[in-house]
Amino acid sequence: MKGVVLAGGSGTRLHPLTRITNKHLLPIYDRPMISYAIEALVQAGITDIMLVTGGTHAGEFLRLLGNGHEYGIERLAYAYQDRPGGIAEALGLAERFAAGEGILVMLADNIVEHGFAGTVRRFETQGSGARILLSEEKDPTHLRHLGVPAFAADGRIERIVEKPDEPPSAFAVTGIYCYAPDVFEVIGTLEPSGRGELEITDVNNWYVERGSMEFDVLEGFWGDAGESIDAYYAVNDFVRAHGANKG
Ligand code: G1P
Repeated sequence: MKGVVLAGGSGTRLHPLTRITNKHLLPIYDRPMISYAIEALVQAGITDIMLVTGGTHAGEFLRLLGNGHEYGIERLAYAYQDRPGGIAEALGLAERFAAGEGILVMLADNIVEHGFAGTVRRFETQGSGARILLSEEKDPTHLRHLGVPAFAADGRIERIVEKPDEPPSAFAVTGIYCYAPDVFEVIGTLEPSGRGELEITDVNNWYVERGSMEFDVLEGFWGDAGESIDAYYAVNDFVRAHGANKG
């Protein structure tokens, strides 16, 4: 399985910090944010990775990560997104890199307390469709800024609602997704959303509608450090006190 780390976007929710750098290069405790996602993938056994970024600070990722060997990456490829067209559009740039293999996708502003090697193993056994990681999050103020699943009576995901005014459950869809190679065909069918972007939630709902979406629930802390400036500091405080990627 290959890995795709998404580190683009304009980071407007963290302005003005992100006027002078890419959000994923801001510090989380003692390291640039991006290095936590890289470490999480390597820990899950994924060492063939593509980093997708954009904007005016893309060169800094090369300066930080180089060929990736120092981080335990075997092969590190880079792609450049030349306009902020959404997470699904950014993922589409990895099609040739994936070359028909399953992929694990991680948004580089997501920080986890514990790794997700088990999810990677289960997806390899699953062999098709998609598998996402959820995190229990009771605070509706967070959920209103995230993707939230609605569950059917049998416990399967019935639908994912992006940034719901009234969250249909107490779980967040994290930015950690496993997809079969047909994800690139799905991306090709998407229409831009109201904000003019190709939405990853539309990709996920495509699999939900076909009954091929599975999920796991992450243990321990999960944070989206790009959600807001308060979320960014909450993630910093957590990592400083407890660490991240603890296996
Ligand atoms: C994206 C997804 C959302 C998900 C979140 C996790 O939101 O659209 O479904 O819950 O990542 O980090 P964004 O952070 O781009 O607003």
